Amino acid sequence: MIDFGNGIKLDTINYPSVSIMRKWRNDFIIWKWCRQNDLISQDSHQKWADSLKDRNDVKMYSIKDENYGAVGICGLTDIDRVNQRSEFSLYISPKSHGKGYGKAALKTLLSHGFMNQNLNVIWGETFEGNPAYDMFLKLGMKHEGTRRQFYFKGGKHIDAHLVSMTRQEFMEAPWKQSQV
Ligand SMILES: CC(C)(COP(=O)(O)OP(=O)(O)OC[C@H]1O[C@@H](n2cnc3c(N)ncnc32)[C@H](O)[C@@H]1OP(=O)(O)O)[C@@H](O)C(=O)NCCC(=O)NCCS
Repeated sequence: MIDFGNGIKLDTINYPSVSIMRKWRNDFIIWKWCRQNDLISQDSHQKWADSLKDRNDVKMYSIKDENYGAVGICGLTDIDRVNQRSEFSLYISPKSHGKGYGKAALKTLLSHGFMNQNLNVIWGETFEGNPAYDMFLKLGMKHEGTRRQFYFKGGKHIDAHLVSMTRQEFMEAPWKQSQV
């Protein structure tokens, strides 16, 4: 269990979290901000979840509130050990939005990535219009650039903003946490 003392913990993905993950990912509220166009089938989702145990380039976690259980999913994806960088992924259960879980989980994920996984850069990509972008900047991530009309979704071309944080920026972040 990964615990940086801010009220949420990151746990390994187990069977119940695998099944709820697909439900959340296919919910329009989350799907509209994700890169995949098709809904995720049970079969492909299970294959992906089964592959996780053998992969070094992806580490996914269930976000746990000790009173309410699983409230979301986050992870380090596309982990590149040579260049010490990784993309991040984050979503909160549609019924648990706006309760502070996303921000707490991202702080813990960044802390885990820089302090436990020896990463030097953690980056993310978000569609134009996603309120999550402001949260990323408030935590100290920097806007790296915009991929113009990079995705086609919902019948239109969409800009995507790249954001990132370096280890140095994390070390200087006012919210920097210590592992419990
Ligand atoms: C983005 C997401 C993870 C945020 O999680 P959350 O638990 O709802 O967010 P929090 O309650 O921790 O709020 C964090 C901050 O973002 C703001 N915020 C979050 N969602 C917002 C929304 N829909 N509209 C306006 N502000 C929002 C909050 O006001 C808060 O700001 P503050 O720190 O100044 O108070 C969640 O909305 C989500 O799962 N979205 C769909 C998937 C997604 O977009 N993931 C990121 C893709 S890169």
